Amino acid sequence: MKILVTGGAGYIGSHTCVELLNAGHEIVVVDNLSNSCEKSLDEVKKITGKEFPFYKCDILDYEGLTKVFDENEVEAVIHFAGLKAVGESVEKPLEYYHNNMTGTFNLVKVMKEHNVFNIVFSSSATVYGSPKTVPIKEDFPLSTTNPYGSTKLMLERVLSDVYVSDNRFSVVLLRYFNPIGAHKSGNIGEDPKGIPNNLLPYVAQVAVGRLPKINVFGDCYPTKDGTGVRDYIHVVDLALGHLKAVEKRSNVPGVHIYNLGTGQGYSVLEIVKAFSEACGKDLPYEIVPPRAGDVAICYADASKAKEELGWEAQRGIAEMCADAWNWQSKNPNGFEN
Ligand code: NAD
Ligand code: UFG
Repeated sequence: MKILVTGGAGYIGSHTCVELLNAGHEIVVVDNLSNSCEKSLDEVKKITGKEFPFYKCDILDYEGLTKVFDENEVEAVIHFAGLKAVGESVEKPLEYYHNNMTGTFNLVKVMKEHNVFNIVFSSSATVYGSPKTVPIKEDFPLSTTNPYGSTKLMLERVLSDVYVSDNRFSVVLLRYFNPIGAHKSGNIGEDPKGIPNNLLPYVAQVAVGRLPKINVFGDCYPTKDGTGVRDYIHVVDLALGHLKAVEKRSNVPGVHIYNLGTGQGYSVLEIVKAFSEACGKDLPYEIVPPRAGDVAICYADASKAKEELGWEAQRGIAEMCADAWNWQSKNPNGFEN
């Protein structure tokens, strides 16, 4: 299949490009490089030994996207492009709504004009808000607490409405839990700009000496050790989930919704311990007040993806931390090396 990957230079996108190419698909990548660099795509080419076209193009640019579709016989789109920092979205809501929403409207318009009806969309466990129980199933109530999350939930609704309006569409909504880790080569990985917001890149930067200590956001949650619990999933498993989704659901009209998680919850302190073991050193940490808006426990029931896509996460927490450490220690300054 020929698959357009928007946001393909980013963290999850670059890992998905590797798995799509390894599985024999052709890809075309569109990215404006606002939160990534082209070097990640050079590494994807080296890892796979395959070439593919890259367009430095903003999905807000209608003419630019039209050119991409005119020049390539795209059959399906995997749509990662978007802004994703929760805190920043609270400070810059208009930028987030414009980029994520208008960009997607543009993309779907150009898809329709080129008779492309298969889209896999990056949604997030954030659409479950503060779940009343765990594990979380796809039919749980939906709500959001910040503009970033609202863009995801609204786009889920928009894309579902697009299907209702035109039954040729196959819309796959993938709700990711917490992606971490890196490709085994250690040549692509997560490379956040500035101080990381998320736990794993923060821990990795403490381990490599870029940051002095880990701040653990609260230890009074109703969890096994009082710290927040999440469903961390290896980014390669997540990438393989996209491969299955695009292969199994393209040209199957409808709205298909799947959680992509492991079904296992780990606390912040368990992650610190697992990463310490992976990097072979004790990592300094301090308990600080909870972060506003954080939920205590979040993990997936991922059985629907197993039953319908034949997909299941394979990689455990030790491998996730070892691979994240391999990437970070080989590239202490990320792609800037
Ligand atoms: P990322 O920032 O590494 O990748 C997103 C890519 O999209 C970047 O390369 C960026 O340059 C590009 N981009 C942003 N706006 C664009 C635009 N207007 N036009 C073209 N390119 C644009 O983030 P990621 O972690 O790889 O996330 C990929 C997707 O998955 C995002 O939609 C994100 O919201 C979603 N998601 C991520 C997580 C997570 O924890 N990483 C969790 C749930 C959902
Ligand atoms: N945490 C710390 N210290 C840090 C960072 C995080 O203790 O420096 C804790 C948080 O309180 C939470 C856990 O580590 O308990 C995970 O936090 P992350 O920021 O890594 O991840 P979140 O679960 O808060 O959110 C992430 C993405 C969201 C996405 C969500 C679900 O940032 O965009 O996963 O997929 F919506």
